[in-house]
Amino acid sequence: MSAPTTTDRFSASNDSPAQASIDDTLAVHPATHDSPSGDSLGDGLGDFASEYERVRRLTEELAAPLTPEDQTVQTMPDVSPTKWHRAHVTWFFEAFVLAEHQPGFSMFQDTYWTLFNSYYESVGARYPRANRGHISRPGAQDVGDYRRHVDDRMLDLLSARLPGERSGGSRPEDDALRALVSLGFHHEHQHQELLLMDIKHVLSLNPLEPVGYPGPRVAPGSPSTASWIEFGGGVVDAGNSSDGFHFDNEEPTHAVLLRPFRLADRLVTNGEWLEFMTDGGYERHELWLSDGWARVNGEKWCSPLYWTRDGSQWREHTLHGTRPVRLDEPVVHVSHYEADAFATWAGKRLPTEFEWEHAMRESMVAPQARDDQAHGIDQEYGIEGFHPAADTAGTGMRQVFDSAWQWTSSAHLPYPGFTTPAGAVGEYNGKFMSGQMVLRGGASVTPKGHARVSYRNFFPPHARWAFSGVRLADTQMS
Ligand SMILES: [Fe+2]
Repeated sequence: MSAPTTTDRFSASNDSPAQASIDDTLAVHPATHDSPSGDSLGDGLGDFASEYERVRRLTEELAAPLTPEDQTVQTMPDVSPTKWHRAHVTWFFEAFVLAEHQPGFSMFQDTYWTLFNSYYESVGARYPRANRGHISRPGAQDVGDYRRHVDDRMLDLLSARLPGERSGGSRPEDDALRALVSLGFHHEHQHQELLLMDIKHVLSLNPLEPVGYPGPRVAPGSPSTASWIEFGGGVVDAGNSSDGFHFDNEEPTHAVLLRPFRLADRLVTNGEWLEFMTDGGYERHELWLSDGWARVNGEKWCSPLYWTRDGSQWREHTLHGTRPVRLDEPVVHVSHYEADAFATWAGKRLPTEFEWEHAMRESMVAPQARDDQAHGIDQEYGIEGFHPAADTAGTGMRQVFDSAWQWTSSAHLPYPGFTTPAGAVGEYNGKFMSGQMVLRGGASVTPKGHARVSYRNFFPPHARWAFSGVRLADTQMS
């Protein structure tokens, strides 16, 4: 998920399921994202058709509380309208699966192939990304019609071609279909998170301070104490070459040399970020990378993206509405530049992506440990929450996948031996290996089962609208 990727990577209508079902989709599930091999959608869940329905349903559930007007607005080039996300993920299945595999295929609307193609040059013309908010028609309900049209054909195709368990079948043409559909599932997961990122930005600019998603009021608590977990380093494996689903940029597995390091067991909190601000963090050039300092001055950064000052109090826009900043929650919506400046101020640094991956394989708290409250109609495909929760003290690495993505000091570059897959899907990640920094982990808005230890999210270093936070690293051993 990222600049072009991110934004590309993701829309609602009145015909969507009721609000009540959203709470159900928030169910905590026995996460599969701790699997180093990383088949995050989980094998053995049933056939592809039922899995398709579940993935598609979450998109509509997330969009259901939003009005058609909410779904049309685009507040900056990186943001896409909700209805665009709903249509684009539908186009993805139409263009990459139905066009290739459905006998007698014909497009729903040929103009949709231009409107809802994100960045696939090899598929044809594209409507300018920065102008997606100009498109009042098709409306949110029209997009619902498009979704149902494609869903009907996808379900027919999947029932006919992949009727058994996900791992079954052996015909090469079925293997190709299986791979494309799995990619479509994960692509839609990415856009579910992007939908939430984007509507958060849209609602943040509305002076009425709308509440996108009503949520429970949680009393602020005392921040937990961060501890360091030490790692001896050495030659370790990084990447993912398993049979389970993973993106091309996670391959191939390769050896990396790590020096001894340590990593904080939780994310940096709002309270700690306030200390940075109070100590002149946004005013001291010596803390900043040159490009970051230019952003601070050019864009007048003085706090995380959604913070606003109200007298002596800082307030934060969330998907649950605007409220006072809670000191015990993890800081979120900071750029790579800000994360790096904070780490410098703290006398620490950001982890490399390889340190992060190794550390999580070694000492992550099994997500199952917190999953004893699982409930809801769909425990595999919900999100943790619309805003990251405060850490609850414990042992081992915490806030790994369920709070905020964690910036690393690693650029999004190809692993040794990386090759771009053939065809249009080869445009998915490889062409974004320039000018982007890797984030690891996952956020509260990341669909469950989507994240994994080897997952490489990426954004430009100045990006702030993702649910991005900070986990500190240190070279010094205590
Ligand atoms: Fe996309």
